[in-house]
Amino acid sequence: MQNEDVRLAEAQANPYTMPMLKGLDGWLEDGSEEARLALRLDAARLPRHVAVIMDGNGRWARERGLPRVEGHRAGAKSVREIVEASAHLGLEVLSLFAFSTENWKRPAREVQMLMRLLEDYLRKEDRLLMDNDFRLRVLGNKEKLPASLRRELERVELLTRGNSRMTIGLALNYGGRAEIVEATRRILAEGRLKSGDVDESVFSRYLDTAGLPDPDLLIRTSGETRISNFMLWQIAYAEIWITPTYWPDFRKKHLIQALVDFQGRQRRFGETDAGSSS
Ligand code: IPE
Ligand code: IPE
Ligand code: MG
Repeated sequence: MQNEDVRLAEAQANPYTMPMLKGLDGWLEDGSEEARLALRLDAARLPRHVAVIMDGNGRWARERGLPRVEGHRAGAKSVREIVEASAHLGLEVLSLFAFSTENWKRPAREVQMLMRLLEDYLRKEDRLLMDNDFRLRVLGNKEKLPASLRRELERVELLTRGNSRMTIGLALNYGGRAEIVEATRRILAEGRLKSGDVDESVFSRYLDTAGLPDPDLLIRTSGETRISNFMLWQIAYAEIWITPTYWPDFRKKHLIQALVDFQGRQRRFGETDAGSSS
């Protein structure tokens, strides 16, 4: 705690070491844990894209003696808080893994409830997306989704198409492998490219994330240390941050902690340590 106080005093005394984060004023309560953490952030080195594997809803519910769906419902509250926090922090893209190509293997009732929750969420939150200049991009194949959810997703995607403050990549019926196969199919179906034309940057343009920067930081909640088929291509050099916290308990202080830890990492992209010459 003492070290923390020293850092805090330093940060306050020397604004140049801590470029002010835009939009933080009034958002975080003075003296709160998250405000203290946020003071340690360097606004000049924030990730552009944070991707989140939102996991642990079922276990959260089970530990409370509740049905799994209550975990998903509680998870929707975390989504709201983290979307808002990400925008305040100035992220360009926040991607959220909401339903995988493998999640269809769950009991039909759970799948149905999840789809309904997502639809309700979109209906309720479209104002929030517009008021905050957020753009929604769906990642994954919408074809297999219930028609009413699909319509709702397309409506909100169209509605928010011109928004630019932050893009929310909602991964639904998404699988990294399926996305790569689909990209290959699109290239072949188009028939325009020769094999020599295809390189990493061209290929990226056929993925669902076309035009978005790759995630710099990948967060997984609930302590699982696996990727579960999320953004296999895009996370090649993402920093991975795993917390035991279940998604319904994930709050802005956890996000800010992840960003602080991210800034303490050295990203080498295959090179040697910065500054080493031999
Ligand atoms: C994440 O929570 C939400 C989805 C995958 C849809 P889970 O439902 O996987 O929760 P756990 O992992 O069973 O606790
Ligand atoms: C990953 O969570 C998918 C989502 C968060 C949507 P899962 O709960 O499906 O992952 P596994 O089955 O534990 O690997
Ligand atoms: Mg899970």
